[in-house]
Amino acid sequence: MVIKLLDGAPRTWPTNGFPPLRSARSPNATPDRDIADDLRKQLSKNILDPVELPSAAADPLARLTLTDFGTPAEPRVHVPDWNATTIAAVVRPKTDAGVFVNLRAAAAALKQWKPAAMQATRADWEAANAAKAELKLDDAALGRGSVVYRRWCMQCHGPTGAGDGAHAFEMNPMPRDYRQGIFKFITAYPKPDPKQPKKGLGASGKPRRADLKHTIRKGLEGSMMPGFPTLTESELDDLVSYVIHLAVRGETEFATTARALQPTEDDPDPTGLDLVWLFDQNLLFVLCNWGIAAHSEIPIPPENVRTDDDRLLSAMRGYKFYNSAEFGCAACHVNFGREPQLKWDMWGGVVQPRNLPLGVYRGGRQGKDLYARLYGGIYPSGMTAFHNTLTTGPSYFDRPDKLWNVVHFLQALSDPYARQRLQNPATLAKFKERLKADNDTFLDDLNGVKLDP
Ligand code: HEC
Ligand code: HEC
Repeated sequence: MVIKLLDGAPRTWPTNGFPPLRSARSPNATPDRDIADDLRKQLSKNILDPVELPSAAADPLARLTLTDFGTPAEPRVHVPDWNATTIAAVVRPKTDAGVFVNLRAAAAALKQWKPAAMQATRADWEAANAAKAELKLDDAALGRGSVVYRRWCMQCHGPTGAGDGAHAFEMNPMPRDYRQGIFKFITAYPKPDPKQPKKGLGASGKPRRADLKHTIRKGLEGSMMPGFPTLTESELDDLVSYVIHLAVRGETEFATTARALQPTEDDPDPTGLDLVWLFDQNLLFVLCNWGIAAHSEIPIPPENVRTDDDRLLSAMRGYKFYNSAEFGCAACHVNFGREPQLKWDMWGGVVQPRNLPLGVYRGGRQGKDLYARLYGGIYPSGMTAFHNTLTTGPSYFDRPDKLWNVVHFLQALSDPYARQRLQNPATLAKFKERLKADNDTFLDDLNGVKLDP
């Protein structure tokens, strides 16, 4: 299919570099100094100061991003060729005399300073290629997605996906900065594997394509992110590819910049060939990590309630879990979240543990949406992932539908009628009676349910 790009598609990117939108380390850009002070204490290492890379690193970095990711007019994701990059120099230094001579210095340096885990293997390279295909990052899709993006998204999310579009600055939360490759409302949860050192920045917080589609179609309720129900299926498909392209591009740049800015004892001067090597490695790892997330869909067991009463009983169990030490939701959602507890997400945005009785959920209100949120947590906002609660704890706590109990509780909490029934002592008495028949003592020590302020 031939498509005509809109006239005026940018043929260059804005300059490389990584000023986060609201870095606490640049208090002038932060609306409130006190907030900035507090924020500074909590910042993760991933948030960099707005800095200028020395041009010895910035210029080659700009060239590399251009070569591997194209321009908004001609976007692409180019997986570095296995044989023709510095990777070859490191892993197979003797294959080609020409290449070897060219890269000898780099190879020698790299051999000394690279921890093995930082080296992309042939398997990583293959996984990166597979991920590129699976994530539909082909030139044609990206070209079409770029047009749709500029029409509907750029005014908020900015040309590079840095969340710095013309309308962005008065919003809280601000439009997502895609460049960390991290998202909030996702249904992927790659289990950390202690035996496998994580490569690059890891796969946590990466969405599946289906998650991005969900966000774009439905919007994020309670934020400025609108839904786009009128996009066609193929526009949506292309758009998702383009958002992933911006995220992969941004994270590769981010990881490379981070290393280039924080030279360690082991790191050589990150310019010239070393920078090429670093960039290629990061690009491969970022793609691998997206591939890992694509295959880490959160398993959601069947809901397993048939009647209204089943659902209410499940909600009552959920109430106990909500207040249990094991879940500890109330530590953050004080008074069910009615009491504001300000926290920070990893972009430096202010977030509040959700006011749960309001029933406004960014990531979707269906049971399966809430289930996924609890299972995987909200990584960039520091909300705990509760997948461990599936297998730990005694007796009833071992049943896999515990999270469903909490989901049913959340749904009852925001439904005035269900809330009233749940708090009625007669309901509790009835359920205790019903459970007695099964020798289930789970609710025995519960003396009442209190949900209203
Ligand atoms: C009016 C401004 C606005 C427009 C237009 C807009 N967004 Fe957003 N978007 C936001 C805001 C604000 C957030 C962050 C909400 C939050 O953090 O809770 C966001 C977040 C997102 C996220 C992150 C979801 C997550 O799980 O973290 C994605 C993906 C996204 N937008 C994609 C798009 C795409 C694609 C378009 C164009 C079709 C678009 N947005 C248009 C404001 C906008
Ligand atoms: C460590 C603090 C913390 C704990 C513990 C915690 N949460 Fe949260 N929760 C948050 C924060 C912060 C947000 C808001 C995130 C944002 O907007 O970016 C949130 C958001 C939510 C949301 C909104 C999701 C959406 O789609 O908008 C729900 C629902 C929720 N929490 C339920 C729970 C439940 C139930 C528990 C206990 C099982 C729990 N949380 C435990 C901090 C926490």
